[in-house]
Amino acid sequence: MKAGIDLISFYTTKYYLDLKTLAEARGVDADKFHIGLGQHRMSVPPPDEDIVTMGASAALPLMERIDPESVELVLFATESGVDQSKAAGLFVHELLQLPSRCRVLEVKEACYSGTAALRFAASEMERRPGRNALVICSDVARYDLGSPGEPTQGCGAVAMVVNSTPRILELEDACGLHAEDVMDFWRPNYRDEALVDGKYSAKVYLTTVARTWEHYAEESGRSLADFSRICYHLPFTNMARKAQVQLCRSAGANARDYGNAMIDESLGYNSQTGNCYTASLYEGFACMLDTAEEDLSESRIGFFSYGSGCMGEFFSGIVKPGYRQHLLTDRHAALFSDRTELSYQSYEDIFNLKVPADGWDYVFAEYRTGPFRFGGVSGHKRIYEKMG
Ligand code: CAA
Repeated sequence: MKAGIDLISFYTTKYYLDLKTLAEARGVDADKFHIGLGQHRMSVPPPDEDIVTMGASAALPLMERIDPESVELVLFATESGVDQSKAAGLFVHELLQLPSRCRVLEVKEACYSGTAALRFAASEMERRPGRNALVICSDVARYDLGSPGEPTQGCGAVAMVVNSTPRILELEDACGLHAEDVMDFWRPNYRDEALVDGKYSAKVYLTTVARTWEHYAEESGRSLADFSRICYHLPFTNMARKAQVQLCRSAGANARDYGNAMIDESLGYNSQTGNCYTASLYEGFACMLDTAEEDLSESRIGFFSYGSGCMGEFFSGIVKPGYRQHLLTDRHAALFSDRTELSYQSYEDIFNLKVPADGWDYVFAEYRTGPFRFGGVSGHKRIYEKMG
């Protein structure tokens, strides 16, 4: 395959809760979150941000770098959909003023669906030279207040332009797949917060690393020595450390030779945002590209994508020479330096302020947002606004 990621952009909201504050409120040692989970802050979406505003905000800088008229496919991957019928991508399509000759749909399988979207987009663009696909992964991770999952909450979005002449990453054909019907994490239609069997979910994640690697190795004939870096789905950053140990075991490699150096550069953003479900893997990839001191041109990156339920995929790509000129590193750094810290009480107030489910019209107060905001609901319709 020659197609792949041409451009990549990350967005998260302007509010965060320090996990020290959460630890105090819950009466637990902050080291459990900092050292045990590897997390420091969680991004919090104000009531007027959602997966649509985050996805559009991630995509906006990319549309300034390509001809938006060339976009003929928009795939919106999410676990936190806002409508049972309408694709969230159609709201983004309007906010970004994309052409009407475009295929737009939403893709779902927990945190995995961004990877399915990326690979489907790449296959499609392979035979559409000169055209672009926009893949958006956008999610809000919510668990019950006081539950073990609470410190792993977060939110964020990644947008990627995918085409047949990528400037960042060329995808390779081989992939390792694993699908299995398990109840490790799920969210019934009547709940805003996910239900999770936490310890079991971590166990299934690791088994899926092993199964997908076995399949990938069989397909590609490659060993761990063929990789420069590995990016993992990041429910919290220490999960990647456990996964890397599992991968070494499965690949018959020594964890001392293929340890943290292969993953460390991908963890920084996630430790500051928390889980972004579909976006987490690609948030990690963007972080690695932005922060690696070594020039990664021509190196092979492995990706492990995991969606509870469960679906896993191990795949790989080769970083394109000159990729650094096309990164949004400064923009990403500005996002992190321009956030407002919440008190515990503000976090809980925001958490409890949901879109009313009674169908009444509703207008949200203005909070700090990016270029787009979710203004409210009128006649059962969500209203989105462009700022400024
Ligand atoms: N100092 C340092 N470390 C400490 C500590 C302290 N004072 N107290 C505890 N720890 C360590 C523990 O030893 C443990 O480390 P290990 O896992 O290496 O043993 C770690 O902190 C966490 O402690 P617990 O296991 O006791 O934590 P918990 O049971 O309260 O919650 C969790 C952990 C189950 C992962 C929970 O956060 C959770 O349910 N998260 C949501 C589900 C999830 O993220 N699953 C991941 C795989 S599924 C997936 O990837 C899909 C997805 O996106 C959700």
